Amino acid sequence: MITLTVCNHKGGTGKTTTSINLSAALSLSGSKVLVVDLDPQGFLTRMMGQSEPEVSASSLVLFEQDLTAPPPILKLPNFDLIPSSPALSTALRRLTKPTDVLWVKEYLQSQLGGYDVVVLDTAAAVTVYSLNALVASDLVIIPVLPEYQPVIGAEQTYQTVKMVQKSLNPGLSASKFLFTMVDARKRNHHAYRLYMREKYQEDVMTGIVRTCTTLSVSSHDGRSVYDTNPAARGAVDYANIAEEVSNLFQDRFGHTARSHEWAGHGELAPLASSEMP
Ligand SMILES: Nc1ncnc2c1ncn2[C@@H]1O[C@H](COP(=O)(O)OP(=O)(O)OP(=O)(O)O)[C@@H](O)[C@H]1O
Ligand SMILES: [Mg+2]
Repeated sequence: MITLTVCNHKGGTGKTTTSINLSAALSLSGSKVLVVDLDPQGFLTRMMGQSEPEVSASSLVLFEQDLTAPPPILKLPNFDLIPSSPALSTALRRLTKPTDVLWVKEYLQSQLGGYDVVVLDTAAAVTVYSLNALVASDLVIIPVLPEYQPVIGAEQTYQTVKMVQKSLNPGLSASKFLFTMVDARKRNHHAYRLYMREKYQEDVMTGIVRTCTTLSVSSHDGRSVYDTNPAARGAVDYANIAEEVSNLFQDRFGHTARSHEWAGHGELAPLASSEMP
């Protein structure tokens, strides 16, 4: 089983869109995928067309300190889902012990070993939920819009992941920046991609997700982009990301590696000094 966390301390960078469509792509390529919504606002749960669950049927069960509690899994067309509940917000007050960052890891190991991939969608904040996700993960994907504030948020997230890796989860292989909502016509998008590529090298995914209207409309009624329009560029882009992720864990997926070219879409121009983070 591979556990992926989708995380960025900055909001609106495509975390939930990535969780849904990357999971759907992994599922289409033959993996058994579970998505856990760890955002108290529960946008992923809503986008999957699910109403607010009972607390006992939400991802809060993973923090109930009863590792034998059955997982509250919803079977959806593209993947299985453990939905979020607003009760995650109020439970923050009691989840304050240092060891409270270990619950998801323990629960996944004890109850959810039957999945090939578990994808954890997190909120844009450092909370016990996002830390639990990082502690349980093999890989962290940091979706980042190639613009000033999201890049700063992504770099801060990268540092948080490094701290978790050092102190709590040495098994965490890496965090990878994933450029989302890339608009090839914008010069600053090219420039921020080049800046990140030069600074973080192989920690930047070679695949990118371009702006795609189908991605923003398809995720409001429980469907992934593959149900709405499998030919849309968002579908193509997330399929490439799924393959890149599979290749990172070749031994566990059993896939043959395909070499990925840096998805440049033309030459990248450097940032002006006034644009540097
Ligand atoms: N590649 C894309 N092309 C066009 N729109 C996109 C793309 N990716 C995401 N969006 C849109 O951008 C908005 C923010 O995306 P999303 O909800 O996935 O971000 P998020 O990081 O999960 O946000 P939050 O921090 O609030 O949880 C949504 O309206 C979504 O439909
Ligand atoms: Mg979200």
